[in-house]
Amino acid sequence: MIREVITYPNKLLRTKSEDVTEFNDELHTLLDDMYETMIAENGVGLAAIQIAIPLNVLIINLPNEEEIQDKDDLIEAINPVITHKDGTQVYVEGCLSVPGFNEEVKRAQHIVVEYFNRDGEKQTMEAEDFLAVAWQHEMEHLSGHLFIENLSFMKRKKFEKDWKKKLKQKS
Ligand code: CO
Repeated sequence: MIREVITYPNKLLRTKSEDVTEFNDELHTLLDDMYETMIAENGVGLAAIQIAIPLNVLIINLPNEEEIQDKDDLIEAINPVITHKDGTQVYVEGCLSVPGFNEEVKRAQHIVVEYFNRDGEKQTMEAEDFLAVAWQHEMEHLSGHLFIENLSFMKRKKFEKDWKKKLKQKS
């Protein structure tokens, strides 16, 4: 089922998510719904809190070399923890909770992450470049933060001004 993606400045996005304790049907439905929602919204990643579920669950599905978003490449991560970070990279990010806004963010170039899959099996993944960006972006959601919090003071100020204008036009 496609769920509603909540957007900035919805305060729920500031919730620190909690660990999943049971790897049951409810979790599987959540993961399936997150995938359907992400695809419907043309996203490449989604954290559970973006559909108002404060659990440490995220999905990532980047396009392959042929620019195809293959479900075989889908990463489903439960209770993820980044255990190693190094290097830096700057990448233009966007977010389904901040629709229509893209800006450069500086992040680690290479990470190692530990997490559980939907069956509760422990996984370790090494990621670099765009995949490392996606992991760090989604992990930030789980801690109650958004990528716009990484902007410089001036860029953030401009964003807030433009965003307010945009929200006003919508209402
Ligand atoms: Co996001």
